Amino acid sequence: MIPIPASAIIVILYALVSTTYGQQGDPKNPVCDISIRDSDNLTLNCSRKNINTIPTGWPEEMNGVEQAGDVLITFFYNNIVNVTQIPEVPGNKIAIILKSNKIIEIQDDAFRNIHRMVYLDLSNNSISGEVLRSEIFQGPYNDGKYSKIALETLNLGHNEIHSLDRYLFQYTPNLTRLYLNNNPIEILDHVTILALSSAVKLEVLDLSKTDIDSIPLDAFRGLENLQNIDLSNNKFVTVPESLRLVGSTLKYLTFNNNPIVELNDDSFIDLTNLIELEVTENEYLEEIKRSTFTPLKSLRVLRVSHNSILRYISHNAFRGIKDKWTLKEIYMDNNGLSEVSIDLLPWNKLDVLGMTGNRWLCNCELYNIVTSQGAGTKFKPGDIPFCAAPMILSGEYITNITLSFCPSDNKLETQSGFSLSDIKPKQILWCIFGVTMVAMLGMLLGLFVNYIKTLYKRHRNQPVPYNPLSSA
Ligand SMILES: *[C@@H]1O[C@H](CO)[C@@H](O)[C@H](O)[C@H]1NC(C)=O
Ligand SMILES: *[C@@H]1O[C@H](CO)[C@@H](O)[C@H](O)[C@H]1NC(C)=O
Ligand SMILES: *[C@@H]1O[C@H](CO)[C@@H](O)[C@H](O)[C@H]1NC(C)=O
Ligand SMILES: *[C@@H]1O[C@H](CO)[C@@H](O)[C@H](O)[C@H]1NC(C)=O
Ligand SMILES: *[C@@H]1O[C@H](CO)[C@@H](O)[C@H](O)[C@H]1NC(C)=O
Repeated sequence: MIPIPASAIIVILYALVSTTYGQQGDPKNPVCDISIRDSDNLTLNCSRKNINTIPTGWPEEMNGVEQAGDVLITFFYNNIVNVTQIPEVPGNKIAIILKSNKIIEIQDDAFRNIHRMVYLDLSNNSISGEVLRSEIFQGPYNDGKYSKIALETLNLGHNEIHSLDRYLFQYTPNLTRLYLNNNPIEILDHVTILALSSAVKLEVLDLSKTDIDSIPLDAFRGLENLQNIDLSNNKFVTVPESLRLVGSTLKYLTFNNNPIVELNDDSFIDLTNLIELEVTENEYLEEIKRSTFTPLKSLRVLRVSHNSILRYISHNAFRGIKDKWTLKEIYMDNNGLSEVSIDLLPWNKLDVLGMTGNRWLCNCELYNIVTSQGAGTKFKPGDIPFCAAPMILSGEYITNITLSFCPSDNKLETQSGFSLSDIKPKQILWCIFGVTMVAMLGMLLGLFVNYIKTLYKRHRNQPVPYNPLSSA
């Protein structure tokens, strides 16, 4: 007997239950593909069907979905302009995808019949903030008021939103993931902030590519579940201080492609629970200063790559967290680095290290990082960095060089990472204090010496007593 792979059987079964319904061009019954995976899992694919309006009914198979079932209805790439009332859908978890249409209007009662809708994708349309009124998320009308709906994920990315209605999330108490990326927000105004802070269950917030350059200090007040923020592709010149308010819950921060010049000990202050930090493609980022990562006491993955002019990482960048080391993966590929200090971090405690795409100077320090400090075993296969300099080693993999003249004790080298910018005001104060003390001690000593001298002189000037014997 020929063995038939299980996947082949599944494909055959899948084809058997996959049917189409309706007639081409009939708005009540557009031609959509139905697939039923189980009695409790139905997908209705109405994508790329030239549909202009929301259908007014569903195929019969929809009635077979159980109370606890999952239903996915997709309308990708159609020409829907006006989201009118969507007919009732059975099931417990309903996902509606209206991505990539031409939506400019949503009716008040659009989702009223599908209060079990947990996922709604309205991305890549022409929706403005004015269209997003709280009424569009009203659930069924019971006992004189509109009930709330189950919505958990709302994708509003790639639209024309400047501002949100302050009551927009009034009927969506379980909103957990909100995507506002690629909208011309520019300024997070007062009403938008009120709208955001009313979504108290929010865990994921995507504000990337919204042209914002700041976030008001109280913007995240009340968002006690916020875990994941994307602020990439914006106009921030510093990491916004407003993140401190969610420092105890925030786990993932993405901060790519912003016009920051340096990261320092203020950048990530209070973000003690951050697990992953991504700071890539910041084309103006030059320096990572002392204590930049010190607040990040739970960090496991750090991605600082593709920052083309990042030349300097202070050897004290991880100051204070080196002895309670939590990091497992560090990626510093494709920056402008040529050197890093051997005491930057405990290299052998990492699982993965990325260093490719820099202009490495293969000196004794780098050699010892790779050999005695164990960094050489942390590179992913195929991601071995190579030397750019000195000329004689240029192009060699850094795991494949031997510098026999290097001292294995690297105490002298560790000083080389020192730079003036490492000096902090506190240290300057201590310096001044020290110099003053030395000066004062000197003065005291001088006075004392003078005093002794005068004493001695006076002593010498005293008439020498006549010794009758000496003249003898
Ligand atoms: C339904 O199918 C989707 C894949 O299309 C799957 O992710 C989901 O877990 C399934 N749901 C159930 C209840 O089996
Ligand atoms: C839905 O149908 C379109 C066009 O027939 C097809 O390109 C697409 O892959 C389908 N999507 C799914 C999830 O089946
Ligand atoms: C959207 O559809 C509703 C109901 O058919 C209609 O009353 C409304 O005028 C339409 N809006 C637009 C902008 O076409
Ligand atoms: C919100 O989630 C909770 C917990 O899962 C659930 O009990 C409640 O019914 C949900 N609210 C709505 C309006 O669906
Ligand atoms: C490592 O160096 C040896 C000799 O120095 C050379 O034969 C080998 O090809 C090098 N390996 C790599 C991966 O460059």
